[in-house]
Amino acid sequence: MRILALETSCDDLAWAVVDDGVTVIAESSASQVDIHTKTGGVVPEVAAREHVLAAIPTLEGLVAQVPLDTIDAIAVTKGPGLIGSLLVGLSTAITLSVYLDKPLIPVHHIMGHTYALFLDRRPHEIQFPMTLLTVSGGHNDLYAMQGHGLFTHLGATRDDAAGEAFDKVARMLGLSYPGGPSIEKFLEGYDSTGNPYTLPQSFRAKGNLEFSFSGLKSEVRRVVQTLTGSEEEMLKQRQHVAYAFRESVVDILAFKLMEAVKQTNASSVGVTGGVSASVRLKEVVESYMKQEGINVPLYFPAQRRYSTDNAAMIGAAAYWLTTSGEVSPLNTEKEKLSLAPLLSYRLGEASIK
Ligand code: KG4
Ligand code: ZN
Repeated sequence: MRILALETSCDDLAWAVVDDGVTVIAESSASQVDIHTKTGGVVPEVAAREHVLAAIPTLEGLVAQVPLDTIDAIAVTKGPGLIGSLLVGLSTAITLSVYLDKPLIPVHHIMGHTYALFLDRRPHEIQFPMTLLTVSGGHNDLYAMQGHGLFTHLGATRDDAAGEAFDKVARMLGLSYPGGPSIEKFLEGYDSTGNPYTLPQSFRAKGNLEFSFSGLKSEVRRVVQTLTGSEEEMLKQRQHVAYAFRESVVDILAFKLMEAVKQTNASSVGVTGGVSASVRLKEVVESYMKQEGINVPLYFPAQRRYSTDNAAMIGAAAYWLTTSGEVSPLNTEKEKLSLAPLLSYRLGEASIK
């Protein structure tokens, strides 16, 4: 089954064609990172307008690689995300599916991130139940995934998501948006010898599956204000702070994931969402699993670009959710259009389905 997928929940617009929920045939996207770097973050109205401009040229780029008449269905992110950005994607996908007379499959964004783990894998490689950490700019959750589309929510952040904390702390350190990759770059070649900082972690207690990053952020702000010295000294100190911040975040994420694994009798462990692009997070999770004697497969997205927002993950989710019967494709024009008036309350819904 060949699915054409569109993702526009935030600042990237991406199309992909995915076969049978695992094989990426083609991708075409437009990044707005240069625009939002100037404002230090995403301005929602700007993001939506850029999507309007990018939707058709990027689709043409995709059609040049894969003829539209080979497509079996169209998948689109239904939310959560920035309302204007989602509206552009939804109206584009609704129109295209009516025009091509192909089924339309709406996909929850976090469900999409989960199915990024299935891309470039053998079809039934991942064993359930999988204990899952979805960690991005907008979400920071733990789930037990019992099967396709079957999730039990185990824990969430009480304030910021880890990715959001990366973005805000990068800004405090004078680094560009998005924060995760710029902190990673800032720390290339950095030597942590003599790092004087140990930054706080919230709710670090056995069995506690809730997260909080506001205390950590405040502490970074306080420390940054105390930094003094020559330009060279300041650079080294900022690196010390960036490193201690990243260590604090990845360590608490890995710690909580292990606590969730212990509570869920997992057959596999998954980490997905933008922050799963962190090489350091992967190292720390691997080291915790070894230390705790957890001998089940660990999955991060097979390619780093599947960690951050992308359309291939939406195509994969659409395939697995419809073939397992958990989500029904919208077939008639009436069904497809029924998605539009529901937007206002569906976009922010907490449910993962
Ligand atoms: O999943 P995503 O692309 O968008 C949302 O759904 O939010 O995640 C974006 C987030 C940003 O906050 C970004 O700073 C973070 O993922 N991120 C990283 C890395 N790459 C992206 N955080 C830590 N390390 C990275 N290498
Ligand atoms: Zn995302």
